[in-house]
Amino acid sequence: MRRLIIFSLLTLSPGLFASACEIEISPPSIVVRFGDSLLANCSLPSCKVNGIGWESSFGGIGLQTGVSSLPLKIEKVEAWEIEPQCYVNTLDPRTGTSAQLIEDLKVTVYQMPDSVFMSQASSKMVEGQQYLIECRINNVAPVSNLSMFWHKGNEIFHKETFKESSSSPHNVSSNYRLTAHRDDNENQIWCEAKLNLWPYGQGPPPMKSELRRMTVLYPPTFMKSANETVEVAAGGNVTLNCTATANPMPVYKWHFSDATQEEVNKQQMNEPILTLSFHLQGNYSCTASNSQGSTSKYFTVIETEGDRTAFIAIVTSLVLVGVLLVIGGLYFVKQDGTFSFKGRGPSEVI
Ligand SMILES: *[C@@H]1O[C@H](CO)[C@@H](O)[C@H](O)[C@H]1NC(C)=O
Ligand SMILES: *[C@@H]1O[C@H](CO)[C@@H](O)[C@H](O)[C@H]1NC(C)=O
Ligand SMILES: *[C@@H]1O[C@H](CO)[C@@H](O)[C@H](O)[C@H]1NC(C)=O
Ligand SMILES: *[C@@H]1O[C@H](CO)[C@@H](O)[C@H](O)[C@H]1NC(C)=O
Repeated sequence: MRRLIIFSLLTLSPGLFASACEIEISPPSIVVRFGDSLLANCSLPSCKVNGIGWESSFGGIGLQTGVSSLPLKIEKVEAWEIEPQCYVNTLDPRTGTSAQLIEDLKVTVYQMPDSVFMSQASSKMVEGQQYLIECRINNVAPVSNLSMFWHKGNEIFHKETFKESSSSPHNVSSNYRLTAHRDDNENQIWCEAKLNLWPYGQGPPPMKSELRRMTVLYPPTFMKSANETVEVAAGGNVTLNCTATANPMPVYKWHFSDATQEEVNKQQMNEPILTLSFHLQGNYSCTASNSQGSTSKYFTVIETEGDRTAFIAIVTSLVLVGVLLVIGGLYFVKQDGTFSFKGRGPSEVI
């Protein structure tokens, strides 16, 4: 903001006069931590100066004559709102015009929070239920330049800013209603307070709350959830997979339609994966359960003859190749037992 107040002889080319004489404040704006020092310089490089002064609610300097620049130095900034103004009395020798120029220095006084605290929602959450979590930031200023980020694992899932006109420190809090999901199990959650007063990457790092590891309880879900029908050749073996994800770890139980199967597979009754090697045909089911619930999955095993036909075909062709080899051997091997390489080798017969 630039204010130009012309005191006298307003009639003579005030436009030219104004453009020739401009206050420069370096730096033009300052972000300073409460209690730190502040330094700014006010100068008028291209005009005749009668006097310069700094007016400020905190640490002002009276009008100084015979200088062309005047630094404002405050050893300790101990006020939340200071708006220093540099004022300059000028005189244009050609016209005899005198004027007062005034320029504001924008000062933002900040304070990093004393603490960032996240409430203990619950040590164990149940999937699908909602939990109210609160993040509290103590004694931060200015609140209008504060952002609160909620982190979960690698993502920022909520952000909040605050409307507050006062520049002094305040306590603020942000609430979030989190619906527990199994993907959050073992994930870390925390919140961060950041003052947006500097270009990206500059200024103090954001202040974090403690990290909290989430535990989400959820019922078993099978990796492959649909019921399965498995075809297997008689005499082969088969694995039935009932592995489920769950928290806490599920316990498994198999059920057999055939009582003798139950006897034979006693060892595997509580395993997630069942391997059957004979008397396969039948219905099987498994149940995975934990404190959050239980789920069942059904398998139907069918023994097929189809694979036996294929097996016979392979055996038949192997026998045929053997016969050819014997014939080939009789034909190409010489009387003394060595091979003759003039003819086609046995490998090429195959
Ligand atoms: C203030 O600015 C003037 C003009 O640019 C310069 O000569 C002077 O050294 C500066 N003073 C300080 C304290 O930076
Ligand atoms: C912020 O909270 C702390 C402790 O809860 C309290 O001591 C302090 O006075 C509060 N500050 C403000 C500005 O209300
Ligand atoms: C602080 O926030 C205010 C209001 O949102 C904004 O006008 C001002 O530019 C911000 N300050 C900085 C240094 O970004
Ligand atoms: C699996 O089969 C059982 C019993 O036949 C049935 O109750 C259930 O709905 C089936 N589940 C699926 C996912 O098809």
